[in-house]
Amino acid sequence: MKFACPAKINLTLEVLDRRPDGYHALRSVMVPLELADELLIEPSPTFAFVCSDPSLEGEENLAVRAARALEPLPAAKLTLRKAIPMQAGLGGGSSDAAAVLRAAMSGAFGRTYTADWVQLARSLGSDVPFFLADSGALVEGTGERVTAVGALPPWHVLVIKPPVAVSTAAAFTTLDAVARPSRPRNTSISLCALTALQRGDFDEVERSLSNDFHDVIANSTLQVARAIEALLAAGAGNALLAGSGSAVFTLARDAATIAAVETRLDLGPEYLRFPTAFAHGNSWRGRVA
Ligand code: C5P
Repeated sequence: MKFACPAKINLTLEVLDRRPDGYHALRSVMVPLELADELLIEPSPTFAFVCSDPSLEGEENLAVRAARALEPLPAAKLTLRKAIPMQAGLGGGSSDAAAVLRAAMSGAFGRTYTADWVQLARSLGSDVPFFLADSGALVEGTGERVTAVGALPPWHVLVIKPPVAVSTAAAFTTLDAVARPSRPRNTSISLCALTALQRGDFDEVERSLSNDFHDVIANSTLQVARAIEALLAAGAGNALLAGSGSAVFTLARDAATIAAVETRLDLGPEYLRFPTAFAHGNSWRGRVA
């Protein structure tokens, strides 16, 4: 059995209060992309895990940690084919872990598992619950409150992965050093982006694109600043950090716009390019938008 493990981007990412446990309350509109890893599940007498990138094999891999969190351990061989770049803010590892949980839920391991799936997902990582939704979503709490948005528009995305890694924990610490005004939920940029996304209103979603990490990371990481500048210089209408980086993306209504931007990009081959699109399935909005 095969499961797609999509990448994600955050159309908005608001970092709210730091909680006593050190985590931060978040508010974010997240969408899955067609850019995806693939998880293959085959019956096996014992648990086994192989990855297209051997350096990612081992107990620390989030997909393995998700399998180990299941009781009993699945009698299955998991083969993970990576396509999503690592340390990019695209949620690749979280999506792989969620695919293991979705496999368990759907009986792909040949038995029925019961668990508090959201709680289990959250214990693996903040982005994991989002990937259980299999949809765009408003994500709140520290990632565990997931409200699916429904049919996504068929918009296109160009992701650039600069040759640099960003530490998520360090990015949060940097944000904590500056006072942030409190932001009421009902007037928040995320709610605005959410309703615009549901209406398929591209211009309004584009105006709402925002990420509290964007300036912090762009100002401190040369390669990220360079990727953003290159996208804008190539005619992109917008350019935003993905999650806490280091990937950046631009959003467009159609594939031709993305292709034109990609052709004009003045970046070396060490800046990886991923032209992709919202994973909108075959949604009704994809047919009428
Ligand atoms: O949960 P995850 O492993 O993705 O988080 C990585 C780090 O990011 C955490 O150790 C924490 O420092 C920070 N974080 C946070 N608030 C969140 C999510 C993550 O402070 N809501």
